[in-house]
Amino acid sequence: MRESIKVVVTGGAGYIGSHTCLELLKEGYEVVVVDNLANSSSESIKRVQEIANKKIEFHQVDVRDREKLSAIFNEHKKGENKSSIKGVIHFAGLKAVGESVRIPLDYYSNNITGTLSLLEVMKSHGVKNLVFSSSATVYGEPKTLPIKEDFPLSVTNPYGRTKLMIEEILKDLHASDPSWNIALLRYFNPVGADRSGKIGEDPFGIPNNLFPYIAQVAVGRLPFLNIFGDDYHTKYNTKDGTGVRDFIHVSDLALGHIKALPKLFTNSGLVIYNLGTGKGSSVMELLRAFEAASGRKIPFKIAPRRAGDIAACYADPSKAQKELNWIATRTIEDMCRDTWNWQKNNPNGFKKGD
Ligand code: NAD
Ligand code: UD1
Repeated sequence: MRESIKVVVTGGAGYIGSHTCLELLKEGYEVVVVDNLANSSSESIKRVQEIANKKIEFHQVDVRDREKLSAIFNEHKKGENKSSIKGVIHFAGLKAVGESVRIPLDYYSNNITGTLSLLEVMKSHGVKNLVFSSSATVYGEPKTLPIKEDFPLSVTNPYGRTKLMIEEILKDLHASDPSWNIALLRYFNPVGADRSGKIGEDPFGIPNNLFPYIAQVAVGRLPFLNIFGDDYHTKYNTKDGTGVRDFIHVSDLALGHIKALPKLFTNSGLVIYNLGTGKGSSVMELLRAFEAASGRKIPFKIAPRRAGDIAACYADPSKAQKELNWIATRTIEDMCRDTWNWQKNNPNGFKKGD
């Protein structure tokens, strides 16, 4: 058995973070989570430990708190039996587009200042391997599809701007000191839940994103789905005219991080990958697939287009396949089945009283 490798996961209590922690534990990594629980619950960490039957070291700390963050890195330098931290997967941040327009300073503080704080602490402790959660939002409205990593970048809202700015900061950092190894992973639309049904997406309040919204309609927490536009008839869209996205199962996405880490450990420098399936599905196709998986009727209304939405977006994931030997294998049916399994077993998410 190989010696276990220790990684810090910021935002590890959140949706993608918790699924990635689970896959890291299954792969034999030691996991140290730093999360301020601004948008999550420590229950997710508890459940990940239960599923994997392994321990996570959890710190309820804001990544902007340099002293506390530094103390965590220090702690892992001490003692002969303790291995030091080899790398960081950085999920921590705020992610709601609409909210970012209303309270941009919170987004710049959490996402930009948080990342700067993390980078400074990593640098001072000589930890220079980083995986960063970026987003397909950095491609703006693409001129052609599928989207490749070298497409032009543009953004339309403060959330997207924080992702693009952080990418630029990381490129500058790597240019100044090539001993940094950095993976910018651009996620398409992560959905679904671990097969166990014990962890999943648990947004606070009314969901902004399609999948959790549909799941809450199916379970009876919300009355119907608003479909934002059925007049997107572009050459990339399906004929039903609803928006098209590249939905990717969160467990496949988590496995993308498992493939990216060892790449960094081989001194890869700065690398950029799309994590998507390469297939576009329409909102209407998804609704029908969710009805089939849940056996429930999902009432819907056609509503006007949502401001800032693009018609269609899907990845060319071939670079990650070639260089990381990673490919998304789970289908839309798997995504619907696993989301439904999580939602029906946990109608109120991680809150007690289910
Ligand atoms: P999430 O909100 O479930 O997880 C983010 C976690 O970060 C939460 O647990 C939150 O409490 C924590 N956090 C926020 N600010 C923090 C701070 N200052 N210090 C410490 N912890 C903090 O979101 P998610 O969907 O799991 O997304 C994870 C990352 O992936 C985010 O950076 C997000 O922008 C990015 N991303 C998400 C999606 C998506 O569709 N979910 C798509 C593309 C990119
Ligand atoms: C959204 C963000 C994007 C972010 C991504 C993270 C916006 C404008 N974009 O992407 O920056 O990186 O989440 O996953 O918020 N839809 C409905 N009804 C709903 C909700 C959504 O019809 O109640 C439709 C949308 O119009 C879109 C599709 O479903 O066509 C997917 O929407 P959503 O899940 O919000 O993701 P994105 O808009 O792709």
